[in-house]
Amino acid sequence: MGVPLCLLKESNQPASEPRSREERRLNMWSFSSGRKKSNYKNTTCRLYLLLLLCTACLGKDDGPSVCYLDPEGHSDCAPEKDVNRYRGPSACNIDPASRFDCAPEKALAADECEARGCCYVQPTDTSDPEQPSCFFPVNYPSYKAVNLTRKANGYSTNLVRSAKTFMPNDLMVLQLEVMFETDVRLRFTIKDPSRNRYEVPIETPRVSTKPTNMQYDVKITTEPFGLIISRKCNGQILLNTTLAPLLFADQFIQMSTSLSSNFLYGLGEHYTSINLDLNWRRLTFWNRDLIPRKDANLYGTHPFYVAMDKDGLAHGVFLLNSNAMDIILQPAPALTWRTTGGILDFYVFLGPEPKTVVKQYQDVVGYPFMPPYWSLGFHLCRWGYTSSAMTREAVKKTREAQIPLDVQWNDIDYMDAFLDFTYDPENFGDMPEMVNELHQEGMKYVLIVEPAIGLTSPRGSYFPYEDGLKRGVYVTNETGQPLVGKVWPGLTVFVDFTNPEAHKWWYDMLKDFHDKVPFDGIWIDMNEPANTHAHGSVDGCPDDNLENPPYVPRVVGGVLRDTTICASSHQHLSTHYNLHNLYGFFEAIASHDAMIKIRGKRPFVISRSTFSSHGRYAGHWTGDVESTWEQLYYSIPGILMFNMYGVPLVGTDLCGFVGNVTEELCVRWSQVGAFYPFMRNHNTMDATPQEPYVFSNEAQEAIRKAALKRYMLLPYLYTLFHKAHTRGDTVARALFLEFPSDKNTWTIDRQFLWGEALYITPVLEEGETEVKGYFPAGVWYDLGSGAALESIGEWFTLPSPLDTINIHIRGGYIIPAQEPGMTTEESRKNSLILLVALTACGFAKGDLYWDDGDSLDTYKKGDYSMVVFMAHNNVLLNEVIKINCEAEKLKLEEVAVFGVPKCPSEVRVNGADTKNFKYFPETKLLKIKELSLPIGKKFEIKWS
Ligand code: GLC
Repeated sequence: MGVPLCLLKESNQPASEPRSREERRLNMWSFSSGRKKSNYKNTTCRLYLLLLLCTACLGKDDGPSVCYLDPEGHSDCAPEKDVNRYRGPSACNIDPASRFDCAPEKALAADECEARGCCYVQPTDTSDPEQPSCFFPVNYPSYKAVNLTRKANGYSTNLVRSAKTFMPNDLMVLQLEVMFETDVRLRFTIKDPSRNRYEVPIETPRVSTKPTNMQYDVKITTEPFGLIISRKCNGQILLNTTLAPLLFADQFIQMSTSLSSNFLYGLGEHYTSINLDLNWRRLTFWNRDLIPRKDANLYGTHPFYVAMDKDGLAHGVFLLNSNAMDIILQPAPALTWRTTGGILDFYVFLGPEPKTVVKQYQDVVGYPFMPPYWSLGFHLCRWGYTSSAMTREAVKKTREAQIPLDVQWNDIDYMDAFLDFTYDPENFGDMPEMVNELHQEGMKYVLIVEPAIGLTSPRGSYFPYEDGLKRGVYVTNETGQPLVGKVWPGLTVFVDFTNPEAHKWWYDMLKDFHDKVPFDGIWIDMNEPANTHAHGSVDGCPDDNLENPPYVPRVVGGVLRDTTICASSHQHLSTHYNLHNLYGFFEAIASHDAMIKIRGKRPFVISRSTFSSHGRYAGHWTGDVESTWEQLYYSIPGILMFNMYGVPLVGTDLCGFVGNVTEELCVRWSQVGAFYPFMRNHNTMDATPQEPYVFSNEAQEAIRKAALKRYMLLPYLYTLFHKAHTRGDTVARALFLEFPSDKNTWTIDRQFLWGEALYITPVLEEGETEVKGYFPAGVWYDLGSGAALESIGEWFTLPSPLDTINIHIRGGYIIPAQEPGMTTEESRKNSLILLVALTACGFAKGDLYWDDGDSLDTYKKGDYSMVVFMAHNNVLLNEVIKINCEAEKLKLEEVAVFGVPKCPSEVRVNGADTKNFKYFPETKLLKIKELSLPIGKKFEIKWS
């Protein structure tokens, strides 16, 4: 029953210490179990520490110690009625970094601003347009919390507002529900108690159990209403909404919070470094077809962030809302959510490690699907393989160049008049044969499918359109007719994937087509949805409040309909206004389900547009990136963040999509791309070719080397995907997730990890033959040479000629690898290699997950193998956790032990002496070969 280690002293003060000015001035309810107060002084925590200490405190605490307020409002967290103190001019005396915009929808002159009851002060630094000149005074009217009710697992209260705001259709009464879902997860919603509003239709956990060891404290300020959530173990405030008023109108909802530090991650999809810039930035969420660039809304929406608290602990916040949204980041540090509909549905994750936060988020949105093994190989694609002959040629030349290749793709070129579920009889007349040939070579085939269905074919000649029309599967306009826009085939309608009938229709169409062309996976594109008709539809869009909401987030193009369909159009589940950001997500579900039904194997679906929870169904590529060095760099934070969103199967087009790539850039990009979880080279129609084989021998050699390295490491990569699928781990991992107590890692996004053990340090700049890399404390072994790099947490300059991407194995880990083949089918038959990277004290561990690589639910059905490896005291052994017949084919042939201090005089395998070993004294690498040990049987390898 210990008091948490890091919480030394009980105090009579509510919540965090020291209490903020805002907190002091507010009337406040502070929730607790009634047994024990939650508010401790945390000097020890503050002074130092943390992760370990507070992790320890997680284990030791004996239950909720939030201070409790009864429904009548009696509390020992005595409210202070001093709001009036802030009336008058001092109400505007707010530090510029902490001013919250009171003119979100349009610029206001001073008198207009003051007429709203707000403060007007021109910022001294006018360089940043996000800095508000019109901002809320401290006493701006907000909601008042009344009628607090205690529930089994939380609280509920009404929020009432007496004065209207400047936004039309304020909701004067709201209901707040605070739900203590688990010890480390709190949910709260703010809704209209009198009427159902739109809520995001994704599956989230239903919780019925009562948490027993809640790691958070919750306080509600009553007037004005605000919510303060803090970490119980150290009092750190994680969310504090009292800094600015809550606004909740029919089409405008705004809430602000303080942030615990300047280190914030997530909130994609945007073109940014991994740690977000808090210097007055606005992130817009309205899925859109656009070449990635800064400060623009892009293809996907994931309103989830991870925040590093100052002490190295982490928490996360997820706003489950799919309406067009802006999130404003400001240097206070603070954040404002500004959404145009739905409800507020927040989840707060307590971590305390950043990777636990990521897992806790995925506990809500779902763990990713398990990809087929073949999909981890190299994929080749381009827009502009205009015939099956050209497509075959690309495969042939890649294979001749000895570049491993698993999956060949076709873009819209294969279609007849760009129509889904057709193929061009002239140029792709033998498409079925082509796909069969690929299969015979041990390869797979993926094709593009569009959500926009062409409607101009002569009557009776294009069944998919007519059948869809009959079955009512299209998005409709205000007159109830299918909305007509324009995409590749010319005039099109758009499938409404929120309609269950559309799922059936999608399956029927794909199935019919699959009966002709036995494709293995599908690529779903243009699903924001993209529409090239300038006005949202051929008939334009109605002039109503969905098309012209009182607040339009800062979308590229200025209006919601830009490059997409009318916001007012109708879908089965709601208006497109509400569902727009979910368009690709629902298409991914339909595609995932259809592919399972059609092939009876693991689905492979790659989508451009995504929403939270996408990873359960499909992967993602980061869209139409340009072939520039800058975009190469930004691909890394992009991929790392998608892993944090639970979408580990993600990649950027190798060598870039738009524009001509140089040989050097394509080599460097292929090296990085060999370590994207999803590796595909894809190019646009009018750019010069960029398949590996078009480059010089030297360049080809460099690309081959990187690709073979990937193929060699696939058993490890596959094991990581298994861990993502079963427990929400990241595959490509940002360094700060793994080393949160080393602050230097908090901004690293030019290097990244695979899981815990493999560290990638690529060259991202033109003309460079060396690269600077940060290495957290420990020993790291160069995968190529075996040389050890011992770091105390410092920067190193590493040689990196054109043929080299630096890969290091982290001391303490064992990586399962395999002799690479030219396809994964070939590789999987090869013998296993263990890369054993010892710590300074001679320890290492690792594991291998193995199954047939393509069957559904192998893990659930128990049809897999799991083997753990351990090295200690000059002995390497395995422990077979579970074995199935797949692994019986797998033999361990070679072991490379990194960090063996001196040449062993003998090596024994299962007790028998072997001479098949070699020691490399310069690098302290020991290689033991010709082992021929079945992986499913216990073995012991000893060197001394
Ligand atoms: C979109 C896709 C791109 C594809 C092209 C043609 O721009 O993002 O990958 O090649 O459409 O289908």
